[in-house]
Amino acid sequence: MTFLEEIQRRRTFGIISHPDAGKTTLTEKLLLFGGAIQEAGAVKSNKIKKGATSDFMEIERQRGISVSTSVLAFIYKNKKINILDTPGHKDFAEDTFRTLTAVDSVIVVIDVAKGVEEQTEKLVEVCRMRKIPMIVFINKMDREGKDAFDLLDEVEQKLGLRVTPLSFPIGMGYDFKGIYNIYEKKINLFSGDNKQTVSNGIEFNDITTPELDKIIGEKSANTLREELEILREVYPDFDKNEYLNGELQPVFFGSALNNFGVKELLDCFIEIAPPPKPKMAETRLIDSKEEEMSGFVFKIHANMDPNHRNRLAFIKIVSGTFKRNEPYLHVRLNKKMKFSSPNTFFAEKKEIVEVSFPGDIVGIQDTGNFKIGDTLTSGEILSFKGIPSFSPEHFRYVNNANPLKAKQLYKGLDQLMDEGVAQLFTLELNGRKVIGTVGALQYEVIQYRLEHEYSAKCTYENLNVHKACWVEPKDKKSPEFKEFLRVKQRFLAHDKKGQLVFLADSAFTIQMTEQKFPNIKLHFTSEF
Ligand code: G4P
Repeated sequence: MTFLEEIQRRRTFGIISHPDAGKTTLTEKLLLFGGAIQEAGAVKSNKIKKGATSDFMEIERQRGISVSTSVLAFIYKNKKINILDTPGHKDFAEDTFRTLTAVDSVIVVIDVAKGVEEQTEKLVEVCRMRKIPMIVFINKMDREGKDAFDLLDEVEQKLGLRVTPLSFPIGMGYDFKGIYNIYEKKINLFSGDNKQTVSNGIEFNDITTPELDKIIGEKSANTLREELEILREVYPDFDKNEYLNGELQPVFFGSALNNFGVKELLDCFIEIAPPPKPKMAETRLIDSKEEEMSGFVFKIHANMDPNHRNRLAFIKIVSGTFKRNEPYLHVRLNKKMKFSSPNTFFAEKKEIVEVSFPGDIVGIQDTGNFKIGDTLTSGEILSFKGIPSFSPEHFRYVNNANPLKAKQLYKGLDQLMDEGVAQLFTLELNGRKVIGTVGALQYEVIQYRLEHEYSAKCTYENLNVHKACWVEPKDKKSPEFKEFLRVKQRFLAHDKKGQLVFLADSAFTIQMTEQKFPNIKLHFTSEF
């Protein structure tokens, strides 16, 4: 296969959803189609069970499982499919945001009974802003849920999407008969007693034929005809380019648990979802078809075994081929590095790989050289953009609880921040360290890991911060900026990259500050 063919056949995507909507179940069914696993139940859920927020064993278990589900790859109809895991738990949202920088498209799973939920809203917003192509899968059609039209409205309104259904349910819950596949003009009937097999569907180019009444009953047939008529009037025709530009989102209905509607989703997905896309670096746009290798680190995973503190850095290949034992430039360190055992991921297995192509994810054993966002190239000096830090939601001072272990504490904190567990801010005034996190759970993770992996102890102290605002003055030498630095002195800090951050205690403060200092921009993300 040529280099270009290898690129064209890759589909790298993430599945996003609110916890419990069915992401794990859908992933598993997709792997079954690819023959990558043999039985249902093989993919472990990586979610933290409800109520387990302070159970450390649960955190450890979660960390262990998420290595094996970080990337799940399989071949289906000669397409190489890479599914990147995105934790649904809101305390790990930052992880998910970063993973979304490495996907070329996403599938959004929505529970038919619950509709659009909070976590889905946040994640879809990020995808929408980045114009990532999205397919929506409405799951659990075997259960009583919301009316299909109401749900489509909800998806449009709450998620700000422009949708077009490519399949439509015939009944729902107890009365669920199957799905009309608009994309392929087929009917797939649901048979509740044979849940794991997939029927090929019955072709129905013309739904006015009386044959339809015989198969699904007169009442259902008439309803379906009416509904399809409404769909035609209300929703736009599917246009692949609009989908690829993030302007139109096709919707499928089904039941992941019953393996229903999943094959239709997958067949359409491999046809319409994009192969690896070009990616913006600070200096220029890098096309996947360029022969020189480039890639970036979007995730770092620490080893669970405290005796082996090596980590696994996940690199998304953007262009060229990544080869084992070939020297590559680590741009931030300006250092050439070779990798003797890069890992690839196949189903749930990790294997050493000789050559990887754009779209692939390579896992590299790391002893502390990598940070999230680092770029590797064949030699060109470039840095990929688009892995910003977002303002954390929680802020606490971190104190050293064992004066003899100060060095270990700072080393541990440093490495945990490189992994992206949380963000560290150093106050300008007195050098005190503040840890900012997305969820309260991370504080426990940090404390636990510092103790078990670095033999260091820390305590926390509350700090009243509403948001971290990255500061961008129009003119660093202006009297206005000097005045800002003077009056806000107590609330100024530096992030790990040395960028100036204003720790504002309320939304009101931010508003007042913006009014008083109109030439100083406050940003809620580190990249602007
Ligand atoms: P998540 O990864 O998005 O958090 O969701 P997951 O797949 O774990 O699914 C959450 C629950 O919803 C699971 O039940 C799962 O079996 C169920 N589920 C998934 N798809 C469907 C579907 O199409 N129909 C129905 N009726 N249920 C579905 P659970 O009881 O929480 O877990 P388990 O004990 O079944 O594993």
